[in-house]
Amino acid sequence: MQIKKQRESWGSRVGIIMAVAGSAVGLGNFLRFPVQAAQNGGGAFMIPYFISLFLLGIPLVWIEWTLGRFGGGFGHGSAPGAFHSIWRKNRFIKYFGVIGIFGPLIIFIYYTYIESWALAYSVFSLLGKYSSCAGTSSAMQSFLHGFQGLEKNSYFNNMAFAYLFFLITFIANISVIYYGIRGGIERLAKIAMPLLFVCALILMVRVLTLGTPDSTKPSWNIVNGLGFLWNPDLAALGNAKVWLAAAGQVFFTLSVGIGVILTYASYLSRGDDVVLSGLSAVGTNEFAEVILGASIIIPAAFIFFGPLQMQAIAKSGAFDLGFITMPMVLNRIPLSSLFGFLWFFLLFLAGVTSSVSLAQPAVAFLEDEFNINRERAVRIFAIVSFILCQPVIFLLGRGLINELDFWGGTFSLVLFATIETLLFIWVFGMEKAWEEIHTGASLGIPKIYKFIIKYVTPLFLFFILGFWFIQQGIPTILMHNVSAANRPYVLFTRVGLLIIFLVLAFLVKIAWRRKRKAREAFSL
Ligand code: PFF
Repeated sequence: MQIKKQRESWGSRVGIIMAVAGSAVGLGNFLRFPVQAAQNGGGAFMIPYFISLFLLGIPLVWIEWTLGRFGGGFGHGSAPGAFHSIWRKNRFIKYFGVIGIFGPLIIFIYYTYIESWALAYSVFSLLGKYSSCAGTSSAMQSFLHGFQGLEKNSYFNNMAFAYLFFLITFIANISVIYYGIRGGIERLAKIAMPLLFVCALILMVRVLTLGTPDSTKPSWNIVNGLGFLWNPDLAALGNAKVWLAAAGQVFFTLSVGIGVILTYASYLSRGDDVVLSGLSAVGTNEFAEVILGASIIIPAAFIFFGPLQMQAIAKSGAFDLGFITMPMVLNRIPLSSLFGFLWFFLLFLAGVTSSVSLAQPAVAFLEDEFNINRERAVRIFAIVSFILCQPVIFLLGRGLINELDFWGGTFSLVLFATIETLLFIWVFGMEKAWEEIHTGASLGIPKIYKFIIKYVTPLFLFFILGFWFIQQGIPTILMHNVSAANRPYVLFTRVGLLIIFLVLAFLVKIAWRRKRKAREAFSL
């Protein structure tokens, strides 16, 4: 018979809140959010954003924390086991839980690489390596492409630096997970989160006190820079795309609907609060997003480039804004290498506390369902994810990251969120669910949320799933926006993703078969 080992636990309540907030506060807050807001109506984006936060995000946070703590009580730290604990009679529900390991793993394999660029640029900034090309965006672009190995130029003639920084970042991630929940993830969050806020606050104050750097262009000032993001374009509200973008951003930024919070919450004990802890993590994330994230990159770029060029910059996407425009902006102010360092180090810290959370569901799955120790589980995860990262690195620019982001970071999210909501309200039953959420709670949730969770959240999710599928899902599946040259690579990615999903489902099957056999042997 197998003997179940004691599961790990968090060191303190502040520790888990910081770890969940660490997962939530990421590249999404400082790069994705400002770009999404600027592209989707500025201030008008904030209306669907906050509606999605209150009707979708916060309910899902409570659902996922509660399901996680419930599953943890049965020794399951990942979605297949948690779902199975709720609906024991259903033989298939655990396979739906596979999405809760698959999604985070897929995000992990591209997120870590992007995170390593931030680390590299923080060093480049201190060394002044890009300062000679920060005058024009084309030079900055060549620098980035040279670094990534997309072209050979006077800045780089191979991608050795990129690979080196990837290795450092990858090893840093694996080491943190290796030291476990309390000794690794919690400890990292307690150091990195305050540091990250300090970096962000310094940058925000610097940007907000830039005034009007070019006296010949008085309208290119900080107030108008903030206005670019905040002045509402109400016409945008009639556009389904804006609502989709807002709901998508809420999911992504809260790290919700993917199984990561479920895994973190599985290390709680039954009497631990989930209501206030969940809300505290949401509050921390929203401060980092709406106050800090919104006040750095867009206003800074606005005052140096003006409204017209800003439109084009916002359209060019989050990475260009972060790695091309921002160094150009910072290069024009005194102490530019220090501020450049702060910016990229901020991105790196935000990234690393998120990527360790993406690795944990797979590690918890191996530990809990195969009853192997953490060190071994982390070693297996490290080998597999390292191999999976290689195509992303060496086939950059071939559409792989977009494809992985679509299936792992968008499709899986909405689907998983829908499944967990339905399980929660129908299989658990709303009365029991309400009681379960409130177990150990130091705060009562307003009654209206009973109605919201039961009717509004699932309806909103179906609506989003349907619209999103028609507007973005179908064109993406049919590869409408993929160039002919990249299609074979995208197909290759899809086959790879299918194989990964099937392997994970097969592992679930084996794990449960082994458990059944062990039970039978024990009862003989
Ligand atoms: N919330 C992170 C960000 O804003 O960058 C990204 C993320 C982390 C998404 C973990 C999903 C997840 F499970």
